[in-house]
Amino acid sequence: MQLSPSAQRFSIDDLESLSESASALLDSLRTKMLEPHPRKKPPTFTGAQLAELCGIESTQVPYLASRGDLPTGVVEGRGKRRHFTLVEVREWVARLAKRPKRPEGARAASIAVVNFKGGSTKTTTTFNLAQGLTLLGRKVLLVDLDPQGSATTLTGMLPAAEVLEEHTVGPITYPPLSAAPKDLRYAVQTTYWDGLDLIPAAPHLFNAEIFLPIHSRDPDIHWWALLDKAIEPLRADYDVIIFDTAPALSYLAVNAVIASDGLLMPIPPDNLDYASSVAFWTLLSETLGSLKRHRHIEKDFAFMRVLLSRVDATSVSSTIVKDWIIRTYGPYVLTTEIPRSQVSGVGAVQFGTVFDISKYEGAAKTYSKIRDAYNTLVEQIDQSIMASIWGLK
Ligand SMILES: Nc1ncnc2c1ncn2[C@@H]1O[C@H](COP(=O)(O)OP(=O)(O)OP(=O)(O)O)[C@@H](O)[C@H]1O
Ligand SMILES: [Mg+2]
Repeated sequence: MQLSPSAQRFSIDDLESLSESASALLDSLRTKMLEPHPRKKPPTFTGAQLAELCGIESTQVPYLASRGDLPTGVVEGRGKRRHFTLVEVREWVARLAKRPKRPEGARAASIAVVNFKGGSTKTTTTFNLAQGLTLLGRKVLLVDLDPQGSATTLTGMLPAAEVLEEHTVGPITYPPLSAAPKDLRYAVQTTYWDGLDLIPAAPHLFNAEIFLPIHSRDPDIHWWALLDKAIEPLRADYDVIIFDTAPALSYLAVNAVIASDGLLMPIPPDNLDYASSVAFWTLLSETLGSLKRHRHIEKDFAFMRVLLSRVDATSVSSTIVKDWIIRTYGPYVLTTEIPRSQVSGVGAVQFGTVFDISKYEGAAKTYSKIRDAYNTLVEQIDQSIMASIWGLK
């Protein structure tokens, strides 16, 4: 590049003005690149969907909406149907649904979604579970611990462009630990989905995997409990905290497991996914066993659940592996299973999930099958939280 004569000298004044103009240009480029904002919108809900979530008859909706103390939704479209926003639905659920609330003084239930193998539907499971729980009236925090930032992407953010290092859990692992922020509240963001907050991830989060092994050699540092300690102040603010982990038993994944009351492992019935799941438990038991022997930690989980996921009912091999999974994990296997579905694939292309769409352009039956499966998963996990963590009967 040829410099113009006036650009050959470069003073501190030049530096300051260049820095100002470059930052302004970068800001405007980023704003253009990242438009439109917000990039994702939650779906609207029909009166029938609202009624189901509130546990009332759909015929009661017009009367309740006319009483004046609940959001009214809007009547629109050719059929003059009433539609409700997600915010309105959550308000109705909070007022009308009979589901027990988190008891006074009880802390957020935390769940780590884990498995070794890449693509074993951890992020899809995490996100649908988080969205589904908000529709039951829960307030949920999703913590993305995977430097790929897939869960972050599902909120409509661009991890590499929009998520700075200080927006992630990374800084809680950076030395010197005494000066590091120990309270993860600095990283919480709201999302497009009412009731779902996020601690995002981005590629820099990989730095945590550099610092944590260094800390693991220091006998004075409880490297496995850094996340547990940093998330503690947030446990009063949420009903459920869900950790989406990377496809490895990474140092951050060990932190997630230690910070969790419950574990959820999705396994697609494929022989490689099955083998990976077994390897995961072997490595986790070695890691926790070693921490118990050498660092004297104790850890009891309120529950562990295995979810059969992306199940292809038409595949013979899938049926065989499903049988192995049930024989291996017996009572831990949830009775609901998530079918392999085109709906999920379509959702993924649009960076969305089953809960992001209210109906599917293809067959309505295909959509309701997978949506019902997720609803049952959400219900079963919520039941486990209420019974095993909050002590509700
Ligand atoms: N029920 C389903 N039917 C069809 N495809 C699905 C289903 N559930 C998830 N998928 C697809 O499977 C792929 C892997 O899912 P996902 O990203 O959730 O896995 P992951 O375990 O989080 O992956 P990674 O290990 O990379 O974090 C995605 O393309 C997702 O859209
Ligand atoms: Mg993932």
